Amino acid sequence: MRILAIETSCDETAIALIEAKGTDLMLKKPISYKILKEEVASQIASHAPFGGVVPNIAKREHQENLPILYRKMFGGGALEKKAWAKIDYIAVTAGPGLEPALWTGIVFAKELAKKWKKPLIGANHLEGHLYSFLLPKTKKLKKNKGLFPAIALIVSGGHTILLKVDNLKAWKKLGETVDDAAGEAYDKVARLLGLPYPGGPVIQKLADEGNPLAINFPRPMLHHKNYNFSFSGLKTSVLYFVRDNPEVKPADVAASFVAAATEVLVKKTMRAVSEFKAKTILLSGGVAANKHLRDNLLSSASKAKVNFYVAEQKYNTDNAAMIGAAAYINLLRKKKFKLIAKGNLGI
Ligand code: KG4
Ligand code: ZN
Repeated sequence: MRILAIETSCDETAIALIEAKGTDLMLKKPISYKILKEEVASQIASHAPFGGVVPNIAKREHQENLPILYRKMFGGGALEKKAWAKIDYIAVTAGPGLEPALWTGIVFAKELAKKWKKPLIGANHLEGHLYSFLLPKTKKLKKNKGLFPAIALIVSGGHTILLKVDNLKAWKKLGETVDDAAGEAYDKVARLLGLPYPGGPVIQKLADEGNPLAINFPRPMLHHKNYNFSFSGLKTSVLYFVRDNPEVKPADVAASFVAAATEVLVKKTMRAVSEFKAKTILLSGGVAANKHLRDNLLSSASKAKVNFYVAEQKYNTDNAAMIGAAAYINLLRKKKFKLIAKGNLGI
């Protein structure tokens, strides 16, 4: 099945043409995706001066970028017609995200659906992240004795969620952040160190040159019995520390912050793995691009003898291929999302 997927929930305008195969939601037999074409336009440069994403700028840029990316992907005339003859569905992110941004994708997708007479399906951005481990180049999911139950950690700019996943259509939320998301903490710490938005990649780079043991930042909620997270206090500790200790190297601050944020994420995930006797860890979302987090979870997973799956880096941050992946699974699980922008859609 071929799906053209569109993602405009935040600051990446993305479209992808994917081919999907497989039907087993327990994954005893693989579900696999081939990414035939993809185009992305990042708006990072437009939002960077404001230190975060500005909804109306995002909306305007999505409106400008979508037709450009579409033309890049399809060309025009006979080529475009030929490509559409093989497409079965159009998929678009319905939420969560910035509503003005989401609407641009939905309106564009509706126009395409009308013009080419194709069915249009909505997808949940968070489910896109969750399923991103199925995208290509991830360690192949071979025939296996069972991957479930799995513990999924979704860590992005807007969310930090821990799920117990029983199969690709059934899961339970174990916990989530009670204040800032992990990615938001990276972005805020970058800002207070005078670094550009988005904070994740620059903090990671700076942290590589620092000492993670230099400063003992708090590990919020590490010892709480529940699976919730909190990152706002950690960010405030970094703020006060930097204000009171201007002589300390920013690289040490960055490395110590990364160590604190990662330790909480990894330890809580591993506690859930042990409590629920999980066979697999699924890591996703923009912060999953963080090398320190990936390496730490991988080594904890191998010590605990559980599988560890994470998509290749470019499919951790927002992309359209994961929206196509989620839309395909929606079809398998007969799940329908309303084609209206829902900023606070949950998982
Ligand atoms: O999933 P995503 O692209 O967008 C949302 O759905 O929010 O996540 C973006 C977040 C940003 O906060 C960004 O700073 C963070 O992911 N991020 C990282 C890294 N790359 C992106 N955080 C830590 N380390 C990274 N390498
Ligand atoms: Zn995202």
